[in-house]
Amino acid sequence: MDHVFSTIIEPFRIHSVEPLRMTTPAERAQAIEGAGYNLFSLRAEDVLIDLLTDSGTGAMSRDQWAAIQHGDESYAGSPSWFRFEAAVKELFPFRHVIPTHQGRAAEKILFSVLGGPGKVVPNNTHFDTTRANVEASGAEALDLVIAEGLDPALVHPFKGNMDLQRLEEVLTSRRDDVPVVMMTITNNSGGGQPVSLENLRAVSEICRRHGVLFFLDACRFAENAWFIHEREAAQADRSIPDIVREMAQLADGMTMSAKKDPFGNIGGWLALNDDALAEQCRNVLILTEGFPTYGGLAGRDLEALAQGLSEAVSPDYLRYRIRSTAYLGEALAAAGVPVVQPIGGHAVYIDAKALLGHLDPLTYPGQSLAVALYLAGGIRSVEIGSVMFGRHPDGTEVPAPMELVRLAIPRRTYTQSHIDYVIEVVTSVASAAPSLPGYAMTYEPPTLRHFTARFKPLA
Ligand code: F0G
Repeated sequence: MDHVFSTIIEPFRIHSVEPLRMTTPAERAQAIEGAGYNLFSLRAEDVLIDLLTDSGTGAMSRDQWAAIQHGDESYAGSPSWFRFEAAVKELFPFRHVIPTHQGRAAEKILFSVLGGPGKVVPNNTHFDTTRANVEASGAEALDLVIAEGLDPALVHPFKGNMDLQRLEEVLTSRRDDVPVVMMTITNNSGGGQPVSLENLRAVSEICRRHGVLFFLDACRFAENAWFIHEREAAQADRSIPDIVREMAQLADGMTMSAKKDPFGNIGGWLALNDDALAEQCRNVLILTEGFPTYGGLAGRDLEALAQGLSEAVSPDYLRYRIRSTAYLGEALAAAGVPVVQPIGGHAVYIDAKALLGHLDPLTYPGQSLAVALYLAGGIRSVEIGSVMFGRHPDGTEVPAPMELVRLAIPRRTYTQSHIDYVIEVVTSVASAAPSLPGYAMTYEPPTLRHFTARFKPLA
């Protein structure tokens, strides 16, 4: 007989290990106080399980490390560049590929060319750096995710979708002010939720009808394609690269942080079809990042990314990746911890507004929970709420639509027992949530305040 097994295993074994450093509760209390209660200011050595981000923190494969040895550091026209460019175009067949050192550099270049005062850039939900780069150019960043995407408990297969009616309205009333429409796949600030191919097709049609550029913020394109493959009618029989290529063909360009799905420790790119726009962007690139055949990257980085791209679209990997994130989220939900539903691709998002209902949003319930997780178990997470998004360019402070704490899962890095420990810590902290204090900010920088702000607990 044919045996059928349901356990989904890591499609790799471990080849090189890094030590984790245990700390005592007293050491953690001292470390977090010294960090101004900002988890970004901790020393990583004082963290046991680091779920701050999935960005640049994944484990590279044997084949990526081997590719690094092929890195050719020629200033111009390196073979590593041509391998990288071919790997990008294999999945994203845009005419121009412009390498950058990470995603925000691609955003900076794009919006310094397309942005400016009076302009408005719609997105399903801008990520923090995308919003900051749009706003730094003087333009307005507009979030148009569907209403379902703002209800943490609601189950919907594609909560990252764009609200098509609102997009149509913006393009009808302000067409000349919109230089580009963006779509973030998966929608990171909205819970790592995917966008359907049907929604991408509709956004593409609307943009083409209005003659407006359509760009993807495609950091987690492979995870998004897997959700399309699993959840969308008529997509189950297509290969992941085939779905990715269609997503790219619906757009006019993309920004990319290669620190996510392509398994880079560093890297990114801007890709697009328009020759004149590409020329303008390359001129900014040379000024800020480097020559167009390396951007902000070493030849060895380009090699690692070319190899990583081919691994990112492997179905065995994606099945394990999405299932292991769901394993954490489902266990927390079963223990009564409110999490964004359904579980996203790269992270589990705890609904701190629901869990810490006793705190006013401007005493930062998400920050309070993130600090408590560190104190209790050495787990580093990140607030995605009013600390990250509460301050507006006009100086006002307004609560964010959601108060979330993100547990981002680095790729291929932690095992199931690490995650079982996380489940235990989060569940235990959640049971004491009503006693957690609010926080006040004691220092705040002018932009992207969450990275360097300092806090004090309220009595
Ligand atoms: N767009 C999205 C959707 C992102 O998630 C990120 C980074 C960026 C752009 C910027 O890329 O870091 O390479 O400059 N997200 C990381 C995170 C930092 O933790 O979610 P970058």
